[in-house]
Amino acid sequence: RRIAVLASGRGSNLQVLVDAIADGRLGGELVGVFSDRARAGALQRARDAGIPAFSLRPRDFDSRRGFDEALFSLVDNVQPDLIVCAGYMRLLDSNVVEARPGRMINIHPSLLPDFKGLHTHQQALDAGVPVHGASVHVVTTELDGGPVIAQARVPVEPGDDAGRLAARVLEREHPLLLATVDALLRGRITLDGPRPCVDGTPL
Ligand code: GRF
Repeated sequence: RRIAVLASGRGSNLQVLVDAIADGRLGGELVGVFSDRARAGALQRARDAGIPAFSLRPRDFDSRRGFDEALFSLVDNVQPDLIVCAGYMRLLDSNVVEARPGRMINIHPSLLPDFKGLHTHQQALDAGVPVHGASVHVVTTELDGGPVIAQARVPVEPGDDAGRLAARVLEREHPLLLATVDALLRGRITLDGPRPCVDGTPL
């Protein structure tokens, strides 16, 4: 099965998939990495792994839709079965999302539905929650609002600042994303109905 990754930043989540495929822990094939930032570390990681890497500049387009349609026509060219947003920091146009039902997931650093959007670690600290974490969810037209597939919980520790908390959450994101992608590729999790299912049972 063919996996495409969208990423804007350093690409540590992408690297987990690259490494797991390289040493046989994950089936499937990374067929393209796509970014809105030409200098994203994720693109370099892709090139280093021999994966086709593409970027477009949002400022070269006069609308969000125009940019997203152009980017996703590149994505469509590699014919992915699964599209993984891993640190992709742009909102997606709703038409583009609706045209690809049940094929796109995102990893978000909070226990959704809490703390959508940006600065999730600071949001969690400001709210004083004892437990924070990360979620993998289906991408829908609502920002960070699609059905949650899997979560990892990370206790907030005394003395945490956003950086420390982010680092501990990231450690848990990596196995969470890998396990979720593995389950999707094996067909243990399905996204094609109204709700994600695990072994046929809706989550
Ligand atoms: C991760 O925390 C991801 O959840 C968030 O952005 C970060 C990306 O990290 N949306 P990386 O680029 O995969 O290293």
